Amino acid sequence: MGYNQENYRRVRLAYQTKFLKAEEAADRRRDELHALSPALANIDRQLSATGAEIAMAAIGAGERWKENLAAVEAKNLRLQAERRALIESLGYPADYADPHYDCPHCHDTGFVDAKMCSCMRRELILAGYESSGLGNLMRTQTFESFDLSYYQKQNGDRAKMSRNLELLRRYAEDFGKLSPNLLLVGDTGLGKTHLSTALARRVIDRGFDVYYTSAVGMFADFESVRFGQSTEEAAENPRRYTTCDLLILDDLGTEVTNQFTNSCLYTVLNNRINLNRPTIISTNLTAKELRERYSDRITSRLIGEFLTMRFYGTDVRRQKLGR
Ligand SMILES: Nc1ncnc2c1ncn2[C@@H]1O[C@H](COP(=O)(O)OP(=O)(O)OP(=O)(O)O)[C@@H](O)[C@H]1O
Ligand SMILES: [Mg+2]
Ligand SMILES: [Zn+2]
Repeated sequence: MGYNQENYRRVRLAYQTKFLKAEEAADRRRDELHALSPALANIDRQLSATGAEIAMAAIGAGERWKENLAAVEAKNLRLQAERRALIESLGYPADYADPHYDCPHCHDTGFVDAKMCSCMRRELILAGYESSGLGNLMRTQTFESFDLSYYQKQNGDRAKMSRNLELLRRYAEDFGKLSPNLLLVGDTGLGKTHLSTALARRVIDRGFDVYYTSAVGMFADFESVRFGQSTEEAAENPRRYTTCDLLILDDLGTEVTNQFTNSCLYTVLNNRINLNRPTIISTNLTAKELRERYSDRITSRLIGEFLTMRFYGTDVRRQKLGR
């Protein structure tokens, strides 16, 4: 479980490029200064030799190595001070020829002491948003913007939806390999997609690879591979249905069901169950309708391996139009 591999590869590469660019730009500025001042070029040559001098001093003969080392260090400090003064006398800031990194902590390597720097973690999360398939929905459909006042208090809907909200929030906070599969069931406009999006965002923030897709979109991906029409990206997708840490399959039942879609859905569900990779499915279909539409192999999994969460209320989409 963890960051999407493709995103990780891409972000690492971007860091390597950024790091090299900063070094190259610094080299260019240094050459520019050297052209102005041969004395500075000379100091830089001496400074770059001190590494070898330190090594030699440290393995030097007898008792004197400590003294030798101290002498090299002193020389080094003196050269650096001279260098700074010289650069300033040329009218440049003392650090002019140093690399300018975006991140002062990891110097654009992405790592500090072999641990991932927070700047790289942030990049991976942003890449995770991008590749989640959720796009703009993630900005508006959050836990915070989920308004319980759309659900009637008198008939108990609000209490039930409040519990759903709480459970899904906790699901997002605790998400891991042991998280159960969820089947979000309810009529149109009751907040299934809204809450799945909010949950997805939180799980991505916690560093997991989340993939959101509609059932129609998933079957279209498999279709395009089947007919050999896939672009490279589309060919990657069928793999991702199995490999992502959390798959959110929205609107199951809106697709045209046939043997092909049945076998795709079975394979995805079965693989994910075997690999302990959680899936969240939402649907308007009742248990009876699911049984009518899908093969027994699928429905027995949807019933046996998924926790059902029911959504209550009256279409929020329409209520919002009226408000
Ligand atoms: N409790 C809520 N507070 C604020 N906005 C909500 C709430 N519930 C739903 N919405 C908004 O109403 C619209 C419809 O909700 P959503 O798409 O989540 O419904 P759904 O249950 O997925 O419906 P469908 O079955 O048609 O896919 C969305 O724009 C969503 O942001
Ligand atoms: Mg929906
Ligand atoms: Zn950093």
